[in-house]
This record gives sequence, C-alpha cells and structure tokens, in this order.
Amino acid sequence: MQDTLLIALFALLGAGAAGLVGALVLRLLRHRSLVVTLTVVAAVAVTAMLAGTLSVAWEMFLSPHDLKVVTIVVAMAAAVSLATAVLLGRWVAARSKALTEAARSFGDGGSFAAPREPGSAELVSLTRELEETSRKLAVSRERERTLEASRRELVAWISHDLRTPLAGLRAMAEALEDGVAADPARYLRQMRTEVERLDGMVGDLFEISRIHAGSLVLTPSPVSVYDLVGDALAGADPLAREHGVRLVGDSVDAVPVDVDSKEMSRVLGNLLVNAIRRTPADGTVAVAARSASGQVVLSVTDGCGGIPEEDLDRVFDTGWRGTHARTPPAGAGLGLAIVRGIVEAHQGRAAVRNVAGGCCFEVTLPTAPA
Ligand SMILES: Nc1ncnc2c1ncn2[C@@H]1O[C@H](COP(=O)(O)OP(=O)(O)O)[C@@H](O)[C@H]1O
Ligand SMILES: [Mg+2]
Repeated sequence: MQDTLLIALFALLGAGAAGLVGALVLRLLRHRSLVVTLTVVAAVAVTAMLAGTLSVAWEMFLSPHDLKVVTIVVAMAAAVSLATAVLLGRWVAARSKALTEAARSFGDGGSFAAPREPGSAELVSLTRELEETSRKLAVSRERERTLEASRRELVAWISHDLRTPLAGLRAMAEALEDGVAADPARYLRQMRTEVERLDGMVGDLFEISRIHAGSLVLTPSPVSVYDLVGDALAGADPLAREHGVRLVGDSVDAVPVDVDSKEMSRVLGNLLVNAIRRTPADGTVAVAARSASGQVVLSVTDGCGGIPEEDLDRVFDTGWRGTHARTPPAGAGLGLAIVRGIVEAHQGRAAVRNVAGGCCFEVTLPTAPA
C-alpha cells in the first residue's frame, strides 16, 4: 500500500515537472500555428509519462528490464500521438485558412461563400457568424446604393427644376425690358409666382442640408396640437379648394407638445400638400391627433389609392419620388425627407402605411411634460 502511494507520488513529481516545462513552452509558443501547439501538447503528454516512469525507476521500483519495456512502449505512443497531433493540426489549419480566404473575399466587396468542407465546431460557428455578417453587409450595401442613386437623381432634378423657372423668368424680364409684353402686370405677377416657387425649392434644399449636417437648431415651446393642426389646415385650404379636395380635421385632441412650431408647421404642411396633390377631386384628406401613453400620434390620411408595397420603405428617402403617383411629381422628392428629419430631431418617428383607398402618414411625438 505504501509502495503504491510512493509510486504515485514519484510519478506525480516526474510528470508535474514535465508538465511545468511544457506549460512554459506552450506559453512561449501560444501565438504560433495550431500544428506547433498540438505537437507540443502531445509531446508534453508523452514526456510527462516518461518523466514519471523514470523517477519511479530511479527509486528502484522498476527493474532495468521493466524500464526498457516501458520506455519502448512510451516511445511508440510518442510516435503515434505526435503523428496524430500533426495531422489534426494541419487539418484544422487548412480549414481555418479556407475560412480566412472566404472571409477576405467578402471584405473585398464580394459575398461570403462558406468553405465546402466544414471545420471544427468553433470554425463552423464562426462560419455561421460570418455568413450572417455578410448578409447584413449586403443589405446595407444595397441600401447605400439606392440612397446614392436617389441623391444623384436629386441633383439632376434640382438642376432641371431650377433651370425651367429661371428660363421663364429671363424670357419675361427680356419682354418687359424690350417693352414687348402685352400685359406687363400679368408678367410681373407670373414672375413673382416663379420667384416664390424658386424660393421654396431653395428653402427645401437649405433645410435638407441643415438636417443632413445635423445643424438644425430647434427652439421648442409648449403648444397645443389642436392649434398646430388648425394653422396647418388653414394654410392648406386654398390648395385643397383648388384641387376640389375636402379637408377634415375634427378628431384632433388638444394635447400639449413641446415643439418648434415653425418646423412642425412645415412637417404638417408638407404632409398636407402631398396628400392633397395625390387625392383625386371630391376625395377627402383627414387629419387626426390622438394621445396615448405619453405620446401623440398625428396622422394625415389621403385617398391616393395606396402606395406600392415595395415603395413604402423608400418614400422618406432624400430625393426619392414615386413614378406611380396619380399626379406627376410636383417636387424634388425632398418633402418627406424633411418631414422625417424634423420629426426625428424632436425625438419622434415618422411612418407610413396603406389604408383602405389611400395611405396614412403618421408622426409620433412625445407629449410635453405636465
Ligand atoms: N400622401 C401621399 N400619397 C401617396 N404618395 C405619396 C404621398 N406623399 C408622398 N408620396 C410619395 O412619396 C414621394 C416622395 O414625396 P416627397 O418627399 O414629398 O417628394 P415630392 O412631393 O417632391 O415628390 C412622392 O413622389 C410620392 O410618390
Ligand atoms: Mg412633396
């Protein structure tokens, strides 16, 4: 019994010493290839066994013959385990190299194609993670591309839209200058209208650039949603009459909000102009406001017949304007981008959904603290 304990003790001492040396070597080599590390681990296992055996033999528990036998057995085990370690190490290294190459291809702009042969469980889970990341990256690249396309179109339209009224203004100014205008007063009125239109376009551009630059400065003050909506309806009334569209605003709660009234009027104005322009004559545009759990939801519902599902996500993009609209686009596609920018600067949200016969734009704002 005592012998057994002593044998265990000496074997432990020998193996422990070998293990210690092995741990130091592993620490030094920890950044080297997996093949090296695995080989060291296998070597440590064999050396620990050999060291244990030798220290037991040293204390005369083994005859020289037994020692020889054990050493040969250990040597064979060493050969086999080292070979296994090298093979395993090379296999894992090859899988990880294949994964590295696949990852490089998607970093360079391609999409990630998982290596055909799966590796160890860790590599498989890393592969899954990379596939997911690659998918997200593809979505955001696509989004980036469409936004870029919208911006390019915006510049083209703006230049075109600015040029048309400018050409008209020049022609009218020349006619007045040459004294060939039949009705100078009408020319002057027309020129003022054009100048106002240009002013509106430049104002929109200025607003969107302030939103994008993050330099939109708000001066919030407590106002009632009821007053905001009332003013917006009054402002949109002439346009509604012109289009034969009925404006309804009878379900508006008098909820207090803390907003920049000038900017918020612009939000409601843009939503109303869009809604009126896209609702056929005799149709109705309804404005509502209801408060719920610390928020007020302002909605503008029109009779446009609905926005195609695939466009719903894009209507708020800068420079995007629909081609399916009932009426030809009247603006440069900035109106809703401005709406979203101003609403988000107020810690609110702007959204759109289709409803029966039309669509409903919703602006959610936090209500003013009582
Ligand atoms: N009330 C609405 N009903 C239907 N479609 C709308 C409405 N408001 C906006 N849209 C769609 O969203 C696009 C972008 O709107 P907006 O940013 O105001 O630009 P614009 O009015 O200059 O076209 C419009 O071209 C139109 O296709
Ligand atoms: Mg618009």
